[in-house]
Amino acid sequence: MTTANPSLLTPHPSLLITGGAGFIGANFVYYWLKNHPQDRVVVLDALTYAGNLASLHGAQANEQFRFVHGSITDQDLVEEVMQTEKIDTIVHFAAESHVDRSIHGPDPFIDTNIVGTHTLLKVAKKLWLDSPLTPHASHLTHQRFHHVSTDEVYGSLEPGDPAFTETTPYAPSSPYSASKAASDHLVQAYHHTYGLNTTITNCSNNYGPYQFPEKLIPLVITNILESKDLPIYGDGLNVRDWLYVDDHCRGIDLAIHEGTPGEVYNIGGNNEWTNIDIVKLVCSLVDENFASDSGLQQRFPNAPFIRGEKSESLITYVKDRPGHDRRYAIDATKTRNELGYVPQETFETGIRKTIKWYLDNEEWWRQIMDGSYQDWLDTQYGDACEA
Ligand code: NAD
Ligand code: TYD
Repeated sequence: MTTANPSLLTPHPSLLITGGAGFIGANFVYYWLKNHPQDRVVVLDALTYAGNLASLHGAQANEQFRFVHGSITDQDLVEEVMQTEKIDTIVHFAAESHVDRSIHGPDPFIDTNIVGTHTLLKVAKKLWLDSPLTPHASHLTHQRFHHVSTDEVYGSLEPGDPAFTETTPYAPSSPYSASKAASDHLVQAYHHTYGLNTTITNCSNNYGPYQFPEKLIPLVITNILESKDLPIYGDGLNVRDWLYVDDHCRGIDLAIHEGTPGEVYNIGGNNEWTNIDIVKLVCSLVDENFASDSGLQQRFPNAPFIRGEKSESLITYVKDRPGHDRRYAIDATKTRNELGYVPQETFETGIRKTIKWYLDNEEWWRQIMDGSYQDWLDTQYGDACEA
């Protein structure tokens, strides 16, 4: 069922941002507070290993902002927050998001990505559709459940295959992408069956500030600074499309404000790179920063540059990820034509900004590297072998 676009949201919506203490969620909070300063922004986050309150430090003083600690699987809590805050827009980021973790332990992916998404849908249906006479119902004529999803639900492409469109059949291959696919189907089902106003965006690989350093780009930057190996899975020729995180946030904003309920929009950067090329690029840009900044040389005395070596010397080929998808590529034609979406950041500017952010925010990533993440990492790479 596709309903006509009921124009926009209420003039000043009240947003529930799930997973707002994670990478994209935190960037989205800053994006929204800056671009829609009169809207209410409530974050619900369980603060798993991937959630970090320090990432929201810059929002805490804003009167429009509130942080609630809790899980999206807690129906009573979700209901209470939505009623208290008169939530009319859910922007759903909360998820277990790391493919490698899903391979080693899929259970939390099922709990959060599938059961948690269903809990949010149930509450949205209950408060927005089933109880229209609740005291705040008069504000809720234009509710929206926006679900943030991934291009990984479409499976893997071979070189030369056309990029994913919104009608590409789902073929997820990891427990992560399978759980995201299930959540997408549930969102569609709630629109089709109950008429819930939903939109979904499926986006390619993001990079930028506040990304947990287990994902490729921040892992490479922080490992160089510590002179640790840069692990390349398999032959390093897997291809990903990379998008600067603010451009993802802008695409979600467009889908919420301009998107048609029930529709799906692909968001991508038209920016495909092999893993090995991207790692080499990051290495050379970090070396360039060291060459021009003596302060960096003092702060990171272990970096290869200090020994007169290139960061590339840290590259180490390791055992491939099981079921490793070869290539992802997004065709964002529909999103461009229907929503006017065009990424604003070039890869050249975005990757430089990102590297500078990690160089300037050592405290943020070091507290992660010194904590539980390190224990997990040790269990993962204990069995990694050089190719
Ligand atoms: P992330 O792992 O950095 O953050 C996830 C956040 O969700 C964390 O703050 C975590 O504490 C929170 N969370 C986890 N389980 C929760 C629960 N049960 N209840 C409440 N909060 C919970 O993830 P990310 O990279 O910011 O991704 C955000 C969303 O975007 C995910 O849905 C992901 O599938 C999607 N996505 C990510 C990318 C990417 O490249 N990172 C690309 C496309 C789509
Ligand atoms: P990642 O950042 O985990 O994102 P995703 O798997 O969701 O695309 O990985 C991006 C690519 O980089 C992926 O092909 C796996 C590869 N990779 C490595 O080669 N080494 C690493 O240490 C990591 C984390 C990823």
